[in-house]
Amino acid sequence: MQAAADLNPPARLLMGPGPINADPRVLRAMSTPLVGQFDPSMTGLMGETMELYRQVFKTANRWSMLIDATARGGIEAALVSLIEPGDTVLVPVFGRFGHLLAEISRRCEAKVVEIETEWGGVFDPAQVEAAIRKHRPKVVALCQGDTSTTMLQPLAEIGAVARKYDALVYVDTTASLGGNDLRTDDWQLDVVTSGLQKCLAGPSGSAPITIGPRAEAAIRRRRHVEQGIASPADVAGPGARIRSNYFDLAMIMDYWSEKRLNHHTEATTMLYGARECARILVAEGIDAAIARHRLAGDAMADGLEAMGLKLFGDRRHKMANVVGVYIPDGVPGDAVRMGLLQDFGIEIGTSFGPLHGKIWRIGTMGYNARKDCVLTTLAALESVLLANGAKIASNQAVPAALKLYRAAENDARKAAE
Ligand SMILES: Cc1ncc(COP(=O)(O)O)c(C=O)c1O
Repeated sequence: MQAAADLNPPARLLMGPGPINADPRVLRAMSTPLVGQFDPSMTGLMGETMELYRQVFKTANRWSMLIDATARGGIEAALVSLIEPGDTVLVPVFGRFGHLLAEISRRCEAKVVEIETEWGGVFDPAQVEAAIRKHRPKVVALCQGDTSTTMLQPLAEIGAVARKYDALVYVDTTASLGGNDLRTDDWQLDVVTSGLQKCLAGPSGSAPITIGPRAEAAIRRRRHVEQGIASPADVAGPGARIRSNYFDLAMIMDYWSEKRLNHHTEATTMLYGARECARILVAEGIDAAIARHRLAGDAMADGLEAMGLKLFGDRRHKMANVVGVYIPDGVPGDAVRMGLLQDFGIEIGTSFGPLHGKIWRIGTMGYNARKDCVLTTLAALESVLLANGAKIASNQAVPAALKLYRAAENDARKAAE
């Protein structure tokens, strides 16, 4: 057998719907030395990570921490820990990831009620309220940003409505946190999870989570410490045992508490990465990062429109960090993506389900929510489209995007004077 070659992946500019290029500072943090999981320096870093994620999630929740898994593991931990068999769960579905929440809830043996809206739109909070009033769910589970459609569900009113009917609200912010406004406490969201590989500028593999007091109480009722580490003081809660050991949030909270009750072995390198993602974001300022995503997203969208391409969905509700764009008639969508990748080293995204073959998805997020990334991608896309016979306006896209950047640069200069 031949020896495996050096690991030397090609240099790519990742402008799809995530993952994106990690910030070099995050990769650097991830190459720092390992320490033992109960080393005071490690438990100190765990505490710092909790404090940083409180700021990222805009919450005072004590339980703001990490699940050692990709974002889907964070979703699964939240749902399996909240849902007891037979509970009713309401899932407003506006894209693929809403279906994922319903699918995981079904595996938890919930009675799942889905309400759907056409892909490309979002729900009016009144529609969600009507469904809550009718079905009286224990949990309302929804995405903030559904990457499959690029739409951002307004959440500000949904938490208060759910509280009125004593329902818990779970939100998946994998694709939106750090690039779009999210206020866990002001919006009364009970559990929120995320991932690193989009606006947080890291690799996938860690799922930040925050758990509010109402959700904590629901989870604590189900606390059953596993045999072998339980002490006589660890009396089992009255609720049904959580059906996953790995994703048992009651045990994971114990592990992140001062008790440090051993559960899994914390993924040290991912914790370094996740901590650095949050540290960078907090140092920039969460609202400044959101504004940077808004500017990059608008510049990309304006550039695409200036080329003569049509954007997908309701632009008023578009996520700041990703845009869907129709593949022009007669243009081979996959050949264009391949041309971008092979000739320019740029990746953009295809799409799923009913949108497959109809739209591309182009991201401007995390480390790549930058002017140079936007302009390079627009220039390369124009070139590949022309080479593939697309009837588009040439030499319009980059100036349209630059116009927005110049205006923002002028505003910043004036503000600094
Ligand atoms: C909105 C949303 N939720 C969940 C996921 C799943 O994340 P992961 O692939 O990290 O498990 C994704 C991934 O793209 C996503 O966009």
